[in-house]
Amino acid sequence: MIKKTMPTYNITLTNQNLEYLHDVLKKTYQQKPLFIITDKNVYDFYQQDLKQTLSSFTCHFIVVEPGERSKSLKTYHSVINSLMEKGIKRDHFILAFGGGVVGDLAGFVAATLFRGMRYAQVPTSLLAQVDSSIGGKVALDLEAGKNLVGAFYDPCFVFIDTHFLKTLPKREKNNGLAEIIKAGLIKDKALFDRLVKDPTIDETLMAKALDVKRDLVLKDPYDQADRMLLNFGHTFGHAIEKAHQYETYKHGEAISYGMLMALQTGMNLGITPKDIYPILKQLLLDFELITEPLLEAKDYLKYIKNDKKNLSDGIRFILLEAIGKATWQTLRACDL
Ligand SMILES: NC(=O)c1ccc[n+]([C@@H]2O[C@H](COP(=O)([O-])OP(=O)(O)OC[C@H]3O[C@@H](n4cnc5c(N)ncnc54)[C@H](O)[C@@H]3O)[C@@H](O)[C@H]2O)c1
Repeated sequence: MIKKTMPTYNITLTNQNLEYLHDVLKKTYQQKPLFIITDKNVYDFYQQDLKQTLSSFTCHFIVVEPGERSKSLKTYHSVINSLMEKGIKRDHFILAFGGGVVGDLAGFVAATLFRGMRYAQVPTSLLAQVDSSIGGKVALDLEAGKNLVGAFYDPCFVFIDTHFLKTLPKREKNNGLAEIIKAGLIKDKALFDRLVKDPTIDETLMAKALDVKRDLVLKDPYDQADRMLLNFGHTFGHAIEKAHQYETYKHGEAISYGMLMALQTGMNLGITPKDIYPILKQLLLDFELITEPLLEAKDYLKYIKNDKKNLSDGIRFILLEAIGKATWQTLRACDL
């Protein structure tokens, strides 16, 4: 079991140890009703296990449709209504049990219902386990773009059990690998090199990716400086997701193309060395995160204007100076 601490919560990384979830929860929350927000896939796989493990609580499940479209105001509204109908009170507890979509949605519900409720992240996808469950960012998408409504709202704890990854489809595993590759590129060359040599996903690899996220969040919890480096590949990535109505490409696939586009932008500006591009491209092809012919940046420029990283003076764009070393510059659309 690997434990990491954040200023206001602990992160536990474990394998097949759901009882420990019960123990952690019991220490945090002594009442009975527990409100578990999840999606249909995760519910079908794990509702029995969860009900059994958490049998000392009265578990109320709120189940949303799987996929990015559930990070919407419409689903938020229906989740809040279901919670109210099931009798949720301000001192009750919410579990966000699922991938990054459920984590962002349930976290936003917890941040806003009754002006804030206690909740925990129990991520079940690789992407959520190595990235989205950490750092307290919760959000919904609007028609105008991704994550445009949101909050910084820390959970009481994050419980990561790699056992859940056994039922995760291969495409979803690769989707999560994209965020691990990104973590290596922006901050940890050894992590990147390890993935190039050996693609095995194990707890050591996941812990290294978590460390990258954790260190950046600790330095800059509110995304004013260093934390922005985590957005490497995301300016174009979010544009790609939006342009294809969040259906054709998974988040990790979209940011994979986005990372190549960001490398190209860095090369055009003379900041990114040219030798990184072919190495990254091959790695992304190997993990089936991209296919040829590649998407082209010029086709997505018009979708960038509503990205939340855009400020009045331009776009905070993340560039790579070397593997393991990222920087940012304020660019105008014509620089891309
Ligand atoms: N808050 C943050 O800091 C942050 C960071 C990165 C990404 N994100 C967000 O995360 C989202 C993407 O997360 P995601 O890739 O996990 O998507 P997701 O939540 O849609 O999960 C992907 C798919 O895997 C399924 N799934 C999840 N766990 C499973 C399991 N154990 N077994 C079988 N199926 C399982 C889900 O039902 C879904 O179909 C995006 O909305 C992105 O914006 C947020």
